[in-house]
Amino acid sequence: EKKGGPVVDTKQLVGDDLKDLKNNIRNLLGSGHPMLDTVSKYYFSADGKHIRPLIILLIAQATSLAPKKVHVKVKDSYEEIDTPISELSNFYIPTLDNNGEEASASTTGNNTSNVNSIYLPRINEADQTVILPSQRRLGEIVEMIHTASLLHDDVIDLADKRRNLLSANESFGNKMAVLGGDFLLARASIALARLRNHEVTELISTVIANLVEGEFMQLRNGQVENGKNRNGNMTTFEYYMEKTYMKTASLISKSCRSSAVLGGATDEVCDIAYTYGKNIGLAFQLVDDMLDFTVSSDEFGKPAGADLKLGLATAPVLFAWEEYPELGKLIKRNFDQEGDVELAWELVLKSQGLAQTRMLAQSHCQKAISALDGLPDSLAKTALIQLTEKVLDRKK
Ligand code: FPP
Ligand code: MG
Ligand code: MG
Repeated sequence: EKKGGPVVDTKQLVGDDLKDLKNNIRNLLGSGHPMLDTVSKYYFSADGKHIRPLIILLIAQATSLAPKKVHVKVKDSYEEIDTPISELSNFYIPTLDNNGEEASASTTGNNTSNVNSIYLPRINEADQTVILPSQRRLGEIVEMIHTASLLHDDVIDLADKRRNLLSANESFGNKMAVLGGDFLLARASIALARLRNHEVTELISTVIANLVEGEFMQLRNGQVENGKNRNGNMTTFEYYMEKTYMKTASLISKSCRSSAVLGGATDEVCDIAYTYGKNIGLAFQLVDDMLDFTVSSDEFGKPAGADLKLGLATAPVLFAWEEYPELGKLIKRNFDQEGDVELAWELVLKSQGLAQTRMLAQSHCQKAISALDGLPDSLAKTALIQLTEKVLDRKK
């Protein structure tokens, strides 16, 4: 017995839909250039958590029993476009034999067999909830955009590790990592266009802008006199939360809304999906910023203790600052003097900062759960409630 009822196994609910995710993405990604092919697919070779697609699929199910605004066609229009996306920019690369003669032509990613069969709508017999092919495709698009942002993020953060692999920038260099990310974004955009839904196109395009805005807010750490931000009159903490929305919660909230939109849900139901996504997204990043202090790199699968070294004051530090005012000057100079990182680290661990960060994450989880009150009961709704606990208790 857990929050919201007996424990729901998300694998049983949407495991089949998630199982195909990485393969489907590969089919969206083929490039005739072997190196571009390798770099853009690289992070999909490791085990990602796929938390964004998971949430999108659960929202699809949980909103499928709620009131509808639009009757949604079961066969989605993008399936009727039959050029596989992976072949769109495949250029012809002749392989020369020893005499300099053309030996064979190579194209990659042309796995077109039975593309449509995996995209049939799926009805869960237990509670009659539905996942549409377009919602599954949305999960793939969102995972591609997320991965593109990680390729770029690892260049910006000089990260040498991701998902327990060498980071892409470390393996292939910055130039290829950046271009690989761009290619992912482009292919995600084509797939988005093929959903033929202008509202969803607008939502997801806005997410891409928000990711960049969040990253920019983080570059100029908006730090300042008397707790006020130089970009306006936000407090440092408000600025941090706004940045957190932009870099993490925007993607989750707007993709939850998009999932409901694709299902034809009413505006009210779309708002519920958005509010759930926004709050679990904020909680997710707050926990991430906490884990940066509490987990080792090996457990985390990416560099831990990275934020202070990057000059970043996240929630645990901002809370600790209230207890230890001397942190103020370190924050202001982005921990760039000898011993700053070590001193800040020590003060954060001594303070209530980590506990307060967890409590704030918990309060956002509570808001996410409350938003779901407006949806009819379903296994997916219970799973979404229980997911908030997993977000709070996660170790990686
Ligand atoms: C991870 O944060 C990074 C993000 C959530 C977003 C990064 C966004 C960009 C680099 C802008 C470019 C966007 C696109 C769509 C190409 P983190 O560094 O705190 O987390 P980490 O520990 O996983 O590296
Ligand atoms: Mg990073
Ligand atoms: Mg970063």
